[in-house]
Amino acid sequence: MAVSSQPVAGSLLAAVSPAPPDAILGLTEAFNGDDRRDKMNLSVGVYKDADGITPVMRCVKDAEQILVETEKTKGYLSIDGLPDYRDQVRRLVFGRDVTADQVAIVQAPGGTGALRIAADFIGSQFGSPRVWLPSPTWANHNAILSAARLPAETYRYLSGDRTSLDLTGMLEDLTDKAKPGEIVLLHACCHNPSGVDPDADQWKQIAEAIAAAKLFPIIDYAYQGFGDGLDQDSVGLKALLSVIPEAIVCSSYSKNFGLYSERVGAVGLVAADATTVAASLSQLKTIVRSNYSNPPRHGAAIVATVLGDEALTRSWKKELMEMRLRIHRLRELFVEGMKATTADRDYSFLLSQKGMFSFSGLTPMQVDQLRTEHGIYIVGSGRINVAGMNENRMDWLCEKIAAVL
Ligand code: LMR
Repeated sequence: MAVSSQPVAGSLLAAVSPAPPDAILGLTEAFNGDDRRDKMNLSVGVYKDADGITPVMRCVKDAEQILVETEKTKGYLSIDGLPDYRDQVRRLVFGRDVTADQVAIVQAPGGTGALRIAADFIGSQFGSPRVWLPSPTWANHNAILSAARLPAETYRYLSGDRTSLDLTGMLEDLTDKAKPGEIVLLHACCHNPSGVDPDADQWKQIAEAIAAAKLFPIIDYAYQGFGDGLDQDSVGLKALLSVIPEAIVCSSYSKNFGLYSERVGAVGLVAADATTVAASLSQLKTIVRSNYSNPPRHGAAIVATVLGDEALTRSWKKELMEMRLRIHRLRELFVEGMKATTADRDYSFLLSQKGMFSFSGLTPMQVDQLRTEHGIYIVGSGRINVAGMNENRMDWLCEKIAAVL
């Protein structure tokens, strides 16, 4: 088929203008096309081991082996997903004593898919309430809300130095600016992009303020186990649910199971009574049905197999802990490396931040320079993915960053 290099007159598609590259995944596309050998990708939130590989976890390989031997069908799943997976997710996210008539769980294609289902649910059931996002937040939150035609507002989250929480500003905005019935989006742990999380006492104050302001929370829970541990990372979620009867939790198993490309996530809708849970579940299912009909099996079957087996669960928890501790070690090495390279720069604030991300303080110009001159890819906001760093190349990284400061 001949392809013209110019738009063809009269073509409907000729009016389509090119979209800008995605702020995060667009950088990985550029990174993949960069043929320099000593490049480094610190943009997208993906864990890399000391060999620079995003590994398949051992428990995942073991579960896949079991599935190869036992799986009997590739028939469709039901609209809400694999029953065992939904049960395991409910226990992992909400606790072992929470029952199916308290929380509706719908399997979703990744955390992003879960957020989009949640946004469509809000749009279809609540009209178009404003959704309050932390400033800053994950860039895709805005895009998801806009696709679901929900208006976004921001509440203060980080203080001026972008290294700590502005709790007073946050509470003021949620109390004085947001109106009853509006939605507030919270990061359960490992805030993306800053790594700044409230502590247990601050979560209590946040939960009480949200309850008093009668806001409906959507909780983005993409990094359970990457902060302080599986249980410790649910402190915020538990504080919220102890005083707020209704909420949606969007969880992801991309990071804590390393199942990025399998797209495994879930929507968990909490309501005060079983009738409302059932009605909400039926509405969530209509959203899924008209979008992708029913979810893919493989990733969810892996999670269900691991969490349904004591030995595999132990192995998973151990490996997750190893990842978490290594990320913390990378933070320490980076702080030490920057101290050694530029005596006047103190990055020790990185040590109290959680999860994969922190703000580096690099300006957009410095970020550009690092990419063009040294093949180091960082998101334009200066967010760095610490989990993409490498202990063997830390001196190299620190020298290159110091060179652009
Ligand atoms: C990130 O923030 O880098 C990750 O959540 C991956 C993504 O989809 O953006």
